[in-house]
Amino acid sequence: MCGIVGYIGHREAYPIIIKGLKRLEYRGYDSAGIMLFDGQELKVSKTKGKVTDLEEKSSREMTINGTIGIGHTRWATHGVPNDVNSHPHVSNSGNLVIIHNGIIENYAPLKEELIKRGYVFHSDTDSEVLINLIEDVQKKENLKLGKAVQIALNQVVGAYAICVFDKQKPDEIVVARLGSPLAIGVGEDEYFIASDASPFIEYTSNAIYLEDEEMAVVRLHKPLKIRKIKDDTLVDPYIQELKMNLEQIEKGGYDHFMLKEIYEQPSVIKDTYRGRLHANLGLIQMAGIEDNLEKFLNANRILIVACGTSWHAGLVAEYIFEEFTRIPVEVEYASEFRYRNPVINKGDVVIAISQSGETADTLAAIKLAKERGAFVFGVCNVVGSSISRETHAGAYTHAGPEIGVASTKAFTTQITVLTMIALRLAKAKGTLTNSDFHRYLQELEIIPEKVAEALQTNDKAKEIAEIFKTAPNCLYLGRGYNFPVALEGALKLKEISYIHAEGYPAAEMKHGPIALIDEHMPVIVIAPKQGHYDKVVSNIQEIKSRSGIIIAVVTKGDTQVRELADYVIEIPETSDALSPLLTTIPLQLLSYHIAVMRECNVDQPRNLAKSVTVE
Ligand code: AGP
Ligand code: GLU
Repeated sequence: MCGIVGYIGHREAYPIIIKGLKRLEYRGYDSAGIMLFDGQELKVSKTKGKVTDLEEKSSREMTINGTIGIGHTRWATHGVPNDVNSHPHVSNSGNLVIIHNGIIENYAPLKEELIKRGYVFHSDTDSEVLINLIEDVQKKENLKLGKAVQIALNQVVGAYAICVFDKQKPDEIVVARLGSPLAIGVGEDEYFIASDASPFIEYTSNAIYLEDEEMAVVRLHKPLKIRKIKDDTLVDPYIQELKMNLEQIEKGGYDHFMLKEIYEQPSVIKDTYRGRLHANLGLIQMAGIEDNLEKFLNANRILIVACGTSWHAGLVAEYIFEEFTRIPVEVEYASEFRYRNPVINKGDVVIAISQSGETADTLAAIKLAKERGAFVFGVCNVVGSSISRETHAGAYTHAGPEIGVASTKAFTTQITVLTMIALRLAKAKGTLTNSDFHRYLQELEIIPEKVAEALQTNDKAKEIAEIFKTAPNCLYLGRGYNFPVALEGALKLKEISYIHAEGYPAAEMKHGPIALIDEHMPVIVIAPKQGHYDKVVSNIQEIKSRSGIIIAVVTKGDTQVRELADYVIEIPETSDALSPLLTTIPLQLLSYHIAVMRECNVDQPRNLAKSVTVE
């Protein structure tokens, strides 16, 4: 959500910033802007729309040169998306410039105070309030920019990642973060600033991730100094060597990131279990679990908090954990959990699931759980993300960068990690028989090949997509382990094709949604051979009797459902508990093709952001 890019060094800043903003497009945004300083003049260009619109506008209205600059993609929170509300924002004197990701919650009283002091505001944003507050502080006490930013931030309530530039001190950019991510790339005599490392990975692999409540003055030819915003203590900068490469974040020949990521699933699931799952030895080894085994084994219950697709992975995990470990599990939307005074007991283990590791609601839920004494374990994809740092321990999913806004490989790798955790605990607790334990290990080990086979449903999914691309509604049904898959299938369709879709437990249908069924309603039923097959077959009969159109996801060789369904998609056989890893695949493909056929923006669906860093 929103992207920040900054550069200070010896190269031309413009191409670095524009390219960087494009790399951050996946985060979702509605406007873009840039500031360049050429040694004399401060140049700002901003516009509602895409980075390509910014390129076009900026090349028309400013001379493009300067070795220092900042750029922004805005995801509007305060004020509609338009040119004026776009960032950067310039202070009243014309000297200070800010780009901001996040929300200044107490902007209204601050704004009122500044207006009384003669400040004039041009935009509706909270960010413009912040830059004028910084200016006011700076002027009052004749302070250096860094100090003024620090004092101003101590008056602010909310979340931010900011870059601030002062044209009177053009060899530095002041950066700070609280709740929104910010990374600094350290090159030779140059620095890069960005919301994540993707904008600078081709220039340097040395990165510093600012922690919450930290700020830094990024100054040319000077080592970086990081301070705590609250108490001014100096922090030793930790320079991390990044392992990701540019190819990983580019499309690799696919039309869309989403398709690339769908197809990456066999290999990333392998990456997820590599070094952790040893089927031949009957072993699961995960450092984060081994180090905290007692906490898990003594847990009275496990609480899972997450949002969106990660929440769906949590629901699958609920079924797996309860069946394998007999530990009671509750799954909560992080956004509800954080505001409902939940009962959290000391012995509770909280698992937070998040692809980005930056989701504001999940982060807040973690903080609350920690305050109440719970042990919090993170399942994240983005290494070094806020959630991975905020949790007591965790396990990465190792899915590689997920750029498509619609989550695909993150979901299946989250399920893989959570299944491994459940198996490890079941082994320690003795809640699975030895033979079941070994069987699951072996099945999980060969699941990537089966996912690859499930990907061969692509043509079938495309064929079905062609038939249903204009449907106004769709119903997704599944039972047991595949109920969350029905929810996920419906979410994928909604997100990228804007078709209204609902996921339901198949048996729940008769308590309401069955009223929707007629000869125009496509119903996608997940009906693998294992699990509650006969029950699902009865549900299919019920739909059939009401003339619904049935698209069924079945196990290879199935004959019974084939007779009833209008369309079938076959996936390989596996155990009930692992089936979501396979049944999900054709549903991802189906949504993808429908969205492409409807000419939707698959990788950046309207109104959505990849990492939702505001609540
Ligand atoms: C998934 O397709 C979504 N775009 C969204 O629901 C996402 O899963 C949710 O915002 C949670 O994100 P996270 O996993 O990065 O925390
Ligand atoms: N709150 C700011 C605005 O609405 C920043 C939003 C963002 O994070 O992009 O302009």
